[in-house]
Amino acid sequence: MSVVTDLGRVHSVGLNAFAADVVEIQANISSGLPGFRISGSADTSLKEAKERVRAAVNNSGLKFPEKQVTVALAPANLPKSGAGFDLAMAVAVLVATGQALTTLLSGTVMIGELALDGRLRSTRGVLPLLLGARDAGFTRAVVPTENVAEAVLVDGIEVGGADSLSDVVAWLAGNLVLDTVHDGGRTPEPSSVPDMTDVVGQPAARHALEVAAAGAHHILMTGPPGIGKTMLACRLPGILPRLSHSESLEVTAIHSVAGILPAHRPLVVTPPFVAPHHSASITALLGGGTGMARPGAVSRAHRGVLFLDECAEMGSKVLDSLRQPLEDGTVRVARRDGTAVYPARFQLILSANPCPCAPVNDVDCVCTSIVRRRYLGKLSGPLMDRIDIRVQMEPPGDTALMTEQGESSAVVGARVAQAREAARDRWRDHGWMTNTEVPGSALRRRFRLAPEAMKPIESFLREGRITARGADRALRLAWTLTDLRGGTSPDVDDVVQALMYRDRGSGR
Ligand SMILES: Nc1ncnc2c1ncn2[C@@H]1O[C@H](COP(=O)(O)OP(=O)(O)O)[C@@H](O)[C@H]1O
Ligand SMILES: [Mg+2]
Ligand SMILES: [Zn+2]
Repeated sequence: MSVVTDLGRVHSVGLNAFAADVVEIQANISSGLPGFRISGSADTSLKEAKERVRAAVNNSGLKFPEKQVTVALAPANLPKSGAGFDLAMAVAVLVATGQALTTLLSGTVMIGELALDGRLRSTRGVLPLLLGARDAGFTRAVVPTENVAEAVLVDGIEVGGADSLSDVVAWLAGNLVLDTVHDGGRTPEPSSVPDMTDVVGQPAARHALEVAAAGAHHILMTGPPGIGKTMLACRLPGILPRLSHSESLEVTAIHSVAGILPAHRPLVVTPPFVAPHHSASITALLGGGTGMARPGAVSRAHRGVLFLDECAEMGSKVLDSLRQPLEDGTVRVARRDGTAVYPARFQLILSANPCPCAPVNDVDCVCTSIVRRRYLGKLSGPLMDRIDIRVQMEPPGDTALMTEQGESSAVVGARVAQAREAARDRWRDHGWMTNTEVPGSALRRRFRLAPEAMKPIESFLREGRITARGADRALRLAWTLTDLRGGTSPDVDDVVQALMYRDRGSGR
């Protein structure tokens, strides 16, 4: 029979999909056969914590008890995974064995993975974890030093960074002040987005990109190689408005879970730009993996741009997997213990060559007509129905154009910002931010256009050249064109132009 001798209680925070939950960790030392058990629905990655915690304690000049050690994580029914509980488990054992003091533990959460030698390793998801801890009433957090800049982005919680388990023990004993920074994390990384001024010629494609930016519309660019498709796509974030403060925190939290934040300047303030290779798998695009599922490209692009370069090279299944996130603005990621839902509201930009052989001059194409048709045909159907703007780019015929400097991103971005503001003002009372968010029913009833302006759409519908969803999307695009020219309501020209943008560049 074992007899309870002592208890250590420490708080940590765990991430379940995107929700942070405070976890209470209790170490229980009893005089039985020496052993180490973790209870409380811990997954395998957590079970590996045993080796890390035991080694880290022993290699920090402390002593892991040669008794029966049970660490319980509560609430037990919460799925818990990852290595972020290591530090709290080690401290709980040290408290239970009288090797660490408890005064500073009240109101404190501890987060961090331990290396075998007792050092603290940086941990994914610190920003959302601390937001959760703060909302649960905690006022202090101990995190790995590398995560301090990210942790201080959370207001209302005092942050201390530690390099090792011994640092934490010394801090608990009142012998050490932990590292902190006061605003380092808030100064964003300087933007590295290239400028629109580098793009020579291609006025139609430049304008299409501006329209896409103004209304957050999805866009497809087709054309032979080497004419600036990739160049233009990479410049889209530079003409989009900067993220608002709340968007910025939201995006930073996702990038934190993805483990892609820069350590020193973690706050993301410009719309993200994510460009997966055309060989990317569905898991890479949508996210997944065991334990704390990693956000995929669609979530890393949340509030920003997802660029699929040479998208006709992607598998149809991979392309089709984008339909659900495009429709919902979230993505459901399958995990062993159910599904996780991550945010995934992004602007899609696609580029494609007209055919697989992709010659610089179309006359040199060696593909059969069937191959040519199939190549872009892959892009038809439900995915293409969601692409509002299609632009077919041609090689510049006039060499004089090649010396002409294009407008800068600042100039184009100012027009985009103005158009966005006009849309925001108009929809404000209804809770929509951009034209793309306006529901179809509102477009068709309350904000119905004059009969004259509706005529082109009605005839497209009658001729089967557009689906009902396509008609709604064309209306949204017409509103964006109106906002860009400073009008009050789409006229027949805006509608015709919107329909042309949908119709062009299909390569057929
Ligand atoms: N319109 C353009 N203006 C300036 N440079 C261009 C333009 N189009 C192509 N280039 C040059 O050619 C290179 C390849 O362009 P890229 O955008 O990758 O072409 P694409 O994606 O259409 O194949 C660019 O890095 C740039 O140096
Ligand atoms: Mg390219
Ligand atoms: Zn070809």
